[in-house]
Amino acid sequence: MTANLSAVDTAKYVAAKRACDFVEDGMRLGLGTGSTAAWLVRCLGERVRQGLRITGVPTSSRTAELARRAGIRVTTLDEAGWLDLTIDGADEFDADLNLIKGGGGALLQEKIVATASDRMIVIADGTKEVATLGAFPLPVEVIPFGWQTTRSLIEETLAGLDVMGETVTLRMKDDDQPYVTDEGNRILDLHLGRIGNARRMASRLNQIPGVVENGLFIDICDLAVIGSGTGEVRVRDANAGTTATETIDVDRQDNVFADLKR
Ligand code: A5P
Repeated sequence: MTANLSAVDTAKYVAAKRACDFVEDGMRLGLGTGSTAAWLVRCLGERVRQGLRITGVPTSSRTAELARRAGIRVTTLDEAGWLDLTIDGADEFDADLNLIKGGGGALLQEKIVATASDRMIVIADGTKEVATLGAFPLPVEVIPFGWQTTRSLIEETLAGLDVMGETVTLRMKDDDQPYVTDEGNRILDLHLGRIGNARRMASRLNQIPGVVENGLFIDICDLAVIGSGTGEVRVRDANAGTTATETIDVDRQDNVFADLKR
């Protein structure tokens, strides 16, 4: 039986598979969170079975579990100290490879891990590419104590910034309870439509008491691997200003699809 992948899953898979080429033996690697990062973990697990030795620092409890199941040696950031590379997904990225992250609620660990790495590579399907950040609601992690006051302070701050919308919502889970992050915090989603000055937005948000971190990743990402449903990938280097296009062979008998066939 072969795996039946949708176009969007094919795009995520080929981006993840191509990004694995940047992983070298002995690396300490930050492992992102989300559906694209899950493909990365599966692809890395396959390479570990073939003899690759890596140590992974997961950015969420979900990724930690997935990595362990894939046979990847997992440790903490404090154990690892500093990382060679982090590979993670994104909700949006622009031409300068500034990102919105946190759609999966793991932005805090993701930002700490990516910042503690020599390099960060973002893996994404082409729908995540935007001219201007902000159509995707910007996640902001806040502590539970006084979160409504923090929300009011965020709303006041937004009034003075270059955005199209200013609605702020508390992220909920399916069962009508507030979403709780791995750190026990809440997520406020900022529906901005367009963020005129992402750098200013990131710095203003982090000055508000109660805000732990925001989902804007500015000057953190070095390289993007952008997949498409046809198997084509674009590798964009933000520092060199280059983009190379390649095609990845999607071998539907690949072991990474094994759990999808069951
Ligand atoms: C997790 O908190 C996020 O930052 C994800 O990296 C982002 O939401 C992308 O997720 P997908 O790969 O599932 O689209």
